[in-house]
Amino acid sequence: MTRTHDSLGAVTISLHWLVGLTFIGLMALGIYMEETHAYEFYDLHKSIGALLLLLVVPRIVWRFMQGFPAADGDASPAAQKLAKAVQYLLLAGTLLMPVSGIMMSAFGGHGLAVFGMGIFPENPDPSNPGEVIPFNGALAQVGHVIHGLGGKLMILAILLHLAGALKHHFIDKDKTLVRMVKP
Ligand code: HEM
Repeated sequence: MTRTHDSLGAVTISLHWLVGLTFIGLMALGIYMEETHAYEFYDLHKSIGALLLLLVVPRIVWRFMQGFPAADGDASPAAQKLAKAVQYLLLAGTLLMPVSGIMMSAFGGHGLAVFGMGIFPENPDPSNPGEVIPFNGALAQVGHVIHGLGGKLMILAILLHLAGALKHHFIDKDKTLVRMVKP
């Protein structure tokens, strides 16, 4: 359940892969939706993204209860600092991406329904069928900017995180990656 030198424990490992892979899937879907205007996927993206908060919040609490694992192997202090900064960035991103998405949808008047269950209402424009009126345009805009910039920053953070994991495994040949796989 909890951490030993050779394994990070079943809770850490399950939450890492569940949140990580869902996050990457949502990033890919978000970019695809935005690029191709695939509006049919918006509800799915919003529903899974909002539900992910149910895992993200306990994961962050768990992470601060357990602390960040010390690096295996003998990475330089600079590499360890970079790895830690990227881990903080990813942890913050898993919270900020869903929260900013919810901000832009809820304040923007688009509403949020999680697989059909209404959470925040829409605000339809009576004089423009199919259009909505923002409840608070400024806060919706803040959410939109964080969601867009955050998405780009997260791509960089995920690539750095992945490169670090592969370097530990194939070049340093230490247990960093294996202990995140084997409970
Ligand atoms: C971990 C959760 C999430 C991740 C990783 C994520 C990621 C992304 C990304 C990368 C984009 C493309 C942004 C761009 O290229 O500018 C996007 C678009 C979008 N996301 Fe999310 N998202 C998440 C959760 C949510 C939630 C919870 C909502 C709303 C409740 C939401 C609503 C949207 C909308 C409406 C767009 C399209 C924006 C537009 O058309 O301008 N997302 N998302």
